[in-house]
Amino acid sequence: MTAKHVIAIDGPSGVGKGTVALAVAEFLGSTYIDTGAMYRTLAWKAISEGLSVDNESQMERLATQSNFVFDGGRILIDGHDATEKIRTPEIDNAAAKIAQLPQVRTVLVDRQRAFAEDGNVVMEGRDIGTVVLPDAAVKIFLDATPNERALRRLRDKGRGSTETALVDVARALEERDHVDRTRSVSPLTKAADAILVDTTNISIGGVVERVLSIVKEKCS
Ligand code: DC
Repeated sequence: MTAKHVIAIDGPSGVGKGTVALAVAEFLGSTYIDTGAMYRTLAWKAISEGLSVDNESQMERLATQSNFVFDGGRILIDGHDATEKIRTPEIDNAAAKIAQLPQVRTVLVDRQRAFAEDGNVVMEGRDIGTVVLPDAAVKIFLDATPNERALRRLRDKGRGSTETALVDVARALEERDHVDRTRSVSPLTKAADAILVDTTNISIGGVVERVLSIVKEKCS
């Protein structure tokens, strides 16, 4: 496969988009862009600078002034590697707030499109197939039941899946899904021409294989 692939992967929290998209990008020799990490690093920078993530014009300015670099699975903001720092409950909440601000989305969507300009990109998020890259050659929408996604989250964090932990994590994921699916700008939704992959009963390796076979079918 030598064509320049632009691959859009969307889906709800905890579905494994990041792991799948990174593996697909590595296999294809493409750049992996985690758009959620852009909202997260911006939230991290805002908090570090003592700014309010509810202040839209301030957040828009911050987004405009920030430089984002992706390096494999890592993200740098203004040259600072923030990969681990952005995976906390505080950043989960702050990023979800920032993601609701239309002016910030406009700035970040422009940056995301610029990353895809030269092709050879695997980009994942919530609105990639619908808004950011509507002409992507391949669009995939990954889904899984809330219970399965909660189990994956607990496994990722190295936590055991006691009944209480599972119920708590599943509830938090459903709350974030609700915010993502019902927000007025760029809500999480499957593009009409995206291929739905229900990953509930498939291993991550199996999902990667399925996505690669879709890419092969669409791009050869
Ligand atoms: O995928 P994630 O959990 O890292 O995303 C962080 C937040 O950003 C989450 O609230 C969803 C939101 N987001 C978004 O609105 N649009 C995207 N393209 C990616 C993430």
